[in-house]
Amino acid sequence: MSSPSPAIAPAGAAQIDAAAPDDLEALLALEANCFATDRLSRRSFRRWLRRQDRVFLVVREGSQLLAYALVLLRRGTRLARLYSLAVSPAARGRGLARELLLRAEKEAREAGALYLRLEVASDNTPAIRLYRQLGYSQFGLYHDYYEDHGDALRMEKCIRPFEPSGDTRVIPWIAQTTPFTCGPAALMMAMAGLDSRYTPTPLEEIEIWREATTIYMTSGHGGCHPLGLALAARRRGFRAEAWVNLEGPLFLEGVRDEEKKRVMSLAHQGFTQACAAAGIAVHHQEVDQQQLVEAFDAGANVLILISTYRLDSKKAPHWVVMSGHDDDCLYVHDPDLEDTGPPRQRGEARSSLDCQHLPIARADFAAMSRFGGNRLRTAVVIYPGPST
Ligand SMILES: CC(C)(COP(=O)(O)OP(=O)(O)OC[C@H]1O[C@@H](n2cnc3c(N)ncnc32)[C@H](O)[C@@H]1OP(=O)(O)O)[C@@H](O)C(=O)NCCC(=O)NCCS
Repeated sequence: MSSPSPAIAPAGAAQIDAAAPDDLEALLALEANCFATDRLSRRSFRRWLRRQDRVFLVVREGSQLLAYALVLLRRGTRLARLYSLAVSPAARGRGLARELLLRAEKEAREAGALYLRLEVASDNTPAIRLYRQLGYSQFGLYHDYYEDHGDALRMEKCIRPFEPSGDTRVIPWIAQTTPFTCGPAALMMAMAGLDSRYTPTPLEEIEIWREATTIYMTSGHGGCHPLGLALAARRRGFRAEAWVNLEGPLFLEGVRDEEKKRVMSLAHQGFTQACAAAGIAVHHQEVDQQQLVEAFDAGANVLILISTYRLDSKKAPHWVVMSGHDDDCLYVHDPDLEDTGPPRQRGEARSSLDCQHLPIARADFAAMSRFGGNRLRTAVVIYPGPST
């Protein structure tokens, strides 16, 4: 028979509270008790006690300080970092760390963070189990990270999960199978979400790419043009319209070769003419999030080109599909299973769940749905076709 789980709420008279300057000595004692190396210094504690851009919580029981958690909030990003978490050895196994971390997540979320990241020693089994249990997943590894030369796992959790309302439609998530087919994968998600008879396949992914690509994989992004995607949807029996805030060929920035520019311009001209012939509305104006939300609520699925949603280093234009919205965020399905971090972490697979319903803060949407120096903003809205 298994033993009963420890209580989830802090047991006894333990209380979670904001850290205060008077806690300094007790924090230092706790730190010395919990960590053999890489301890936070007196100076560091003092600084974090003073600053505002953090969530700093402690657990008190009577006059004793049993635990603390420190989360750093980074200005201008939705990414927060769990800097430290420790529970006094005598108070372990009572559920204090779990409760404290959940509370820290809540406060970080209320301060606007969408993701919480952390590093944990690769041999720290209790902490790794705690983080996995609370929904953190590994997305990277730092070698030789600690003073004792140990490795650190990098873990992340989306702390702003989408809570679907009753009438939210299901949009199946589909992975792109090449680095350049985010557009086709996003379109397949949109079409499959509108018509259950539509069957996405790997061949279809490549076919759509061939129909919609801006050409030139060796230079420029080689991905898909919004009008090409709108046309591909139309050919498959769906209605489509596109918003593009610029006139003229897209994605030419960074392409120096005149001959390549000429071919890309011809491709653009071809898409434009084909859209006109097919009666696909192309709005050469800014699309704002309210229009996209209204289209979504009216039953359309919406492809959005974003520049970087993870807020750390992804600079390529990238197609995603809106999967829902609430008062603070739009949510998207991202077809890219690859980690988006710096190169040394690339190749570490994310799980498909890590790519679904990713939040984009409404306040950040304008900046994230804009690409390149010429500030391209584009979206493709897909509606059920006459036969769907
Ligand atoms: C890791 C630490 C914070 C856990 O604190 P705690 O209050 O004892 O943890 P909880 O009682 O809330 O346990 C929550 C979960 O953590 C995991 N866990 C905690 N102690 C564990 C242990 N000794 N072995 C395996 N898993 C453990 C379990 O998944 C547990 O859930 P369960 O009880 O349902 O199995 C604590 O051991 C500690 O302070 N360690 C030293 C400092 C440290 O390593 N901090 C993390 C730095 S990244």
